Amino acid sequence: MTQPFIEAFFDEPTNTISYLVGDPATRTAAVIDPVLDFDMASGVADTRSAERIVAFARAQDWRIAMVLETHAHADHLSAAPFIKAQTGAWIGIGAHIRDVQKIFRPVFAMDNLKTDGSDFDRLFEDGERFAIGALQVEVLHVPGHTPADVAYRIGDAAFVGDTLFMPDYGTARADFPGGDARTLYRSIRRLLALPDATRLFLCHDYKAPGRDEYRWETMVGEQRRTSVHVHDGVSEDAFVALREQRDAGLSVPKLLLPSIQVNIRAGHFEPAEANGVTYLRIPVKWRDG
Ligand SMILES: [Fe+2]
Repeated sequence: MTQPFIEAFFDEPTNTISYLVGDPATRTAAVIDPVLDFDMASGVADTRSAERIVAFARAQDWRIAMVLETHAHADHLSAAPFIKAQTGAWIGIGAHIRDVQKIFRPVFAMDNLKTDGSDFDRLFEDGERFAIGALQVEVLHVPGHTPADVAYRIGDAAFVGDTLFMPDYGTARADFPGGDARTLYRSIRRLLALPDATRLFLCHDYKAPGRDEYRWETMVGEQRRTSVHVHDGVSEDAFVALREQRDAGLSVPKLLLPSIQVNIRAGHFEPAEANGVTYLRIPVKWRDG
């Protein structure tokens, strides 16, 4: 089995890891979960992080053919449209993105949002296969964090998005609309049924207490032995109780509102107003109704 070339790009402001995954035989590559730099306070966006990936690919003679999203992120904006514009890559995401679009369209009153997933170029069903050059990719639908999460299994590696974090940190929250801790547990067990030596590449790291460097690569066997949330022997009910208790104490991600409304459009902002300026929406809710 050909193994993929993997280069990780860490974005510290959002604790996100993007990846370039390449087929060494054909120099064809995918970019997974690219980040758009965005400063919420000033509204200033730029593409420095994504440019770094594109520049790396050009310097090392990788042809970026696709952008793969593991899900509609709630903590950073996607730079998929920039990568597409630079390279001609297509953009793929799990087919259940339609459910996420249907959930959030009324939340933001985005009447012009299409909920058929057609802002993306490809929608993946569970079990679907496609290729990066000569490398086979298998899509696993792993909902729970959101309804649309997918993992991409490529050679001995799996890019698991926000299902698992490092074993000393645990798992992703499951309290966003459409998220569900019980569903997340089942998705995680499915991932942890892969061979023990499967390398797992994560979408985020926040450094667990006592660890002073970021890490984003682990293995199925390591998760099964040592994950603080889901090591072998943790029952579904025990996990759900822990996850729900944790989630109740978590604050809203800083970039939640802009991220969701942009990412469910495949990383596109709403069309500019007549003055040429693009705006974001913030639904206002009064604290006591
Ligand atoms: Fe996420």
